[in-house]
Amino acid sequence: MFCPRDFTVFISCVVLFIVVQSSHGSEIIDGKEVKPHSLPFMALMETPMENEICGGVLIHPSWVLTAAHCAAAKVFLGVHSEKEKESSQVRVVKKKVLHPCYDPTDKVNDLMLVKLNKPVKQTTMVKWLRLGNTAKDPAAGTSCLVAGWGKTNNVARKMSDVLKSVNVTVIDRVKCNSPKYYNFRPIITRDMICAGSNGQNHADTCQGDSGGPLLCGGALVGVTSFGIGCGVIDKPGVYSFLSEKQLVWIKKTTNKSEI
Ligand SMILES: *[C@@H]1O[C@H](CO)[C@@H](O)[C@H](O)[C@H]1NC(C)=O
Repeated sequence: MFCPRDFTVFISCVVLFIVVQSSHGSEIIDGKEVKPHSLPFMALMETPMENEICGGVLIHPSWVLTAAHCAAAKVFLGVHSEKEKESSQVRVVKKKVLHPCYDPTDKVNDLMLVKLNKPVKQTTMVKWLRLGNTAKDPAAGTSCLVAGWGKTNNVARKMSDVLKSVNVTVIDRVKCNSPKYYNFRPIITRDMICAGSNGQNHADTCQGDSGGPLLCGGALVGVTSFGIGCGVIDKPGVYSFLSEKQLVWIKKTTNKSEI
């Protein structure tokens, strides 16, 4: 597959040789516990490595959307408290479809579709979230919700036991690429959304929240991807934007019956 890039991305890749060393899988910082099962499309994904988790979004009875850098193996649906995950709907990953243009160095297209071994049963606790056909790029200043079982501060070693969420504020891409912010390391492209503090709080995602949803006005707009540290005001969380071309890829992949 041909993977087109922004011209600026190409030039900057030639000019810049700096690799971002510190990245978070992404924790909910400054958040609060959600009302149990109020986000019934939330998936808790367990990686083969102990103590490593990711979030995901159930978008179809058999498909979960998450981040490409998540090494998901087992998927739990209908979980609130991580301790009780075994009593939820448990599935194993049958197939992982990485975005064909995912690049772990410049972090573009950090999306993955996970096919479950068996469709989920729709209950009050488990429901899939239907994706729209049109992408909505949220304007700077928009308040959007993020959720996950990730770490709740920078020093914590443990993840949160319960699902937490916080409102993050969308930050303009120009500002997010500015020297005080990411300074083009990596380049914040049009397929990414920066969102974090409202100027007063430290709202952010952190390790363990990757792959979870960025919901603006209740619609799924992005997937938690990366950041530097957690809750650092000028290093906001970065989300893979579900742009038109990403929605096309998702639809095409999930409609293939042979997978
Ligand atoms: C997010 O913002 C909405 C609307 O302002 C509010 O109702 C909700 O309680 C907030 N959620 C969190 C987790 O702060």
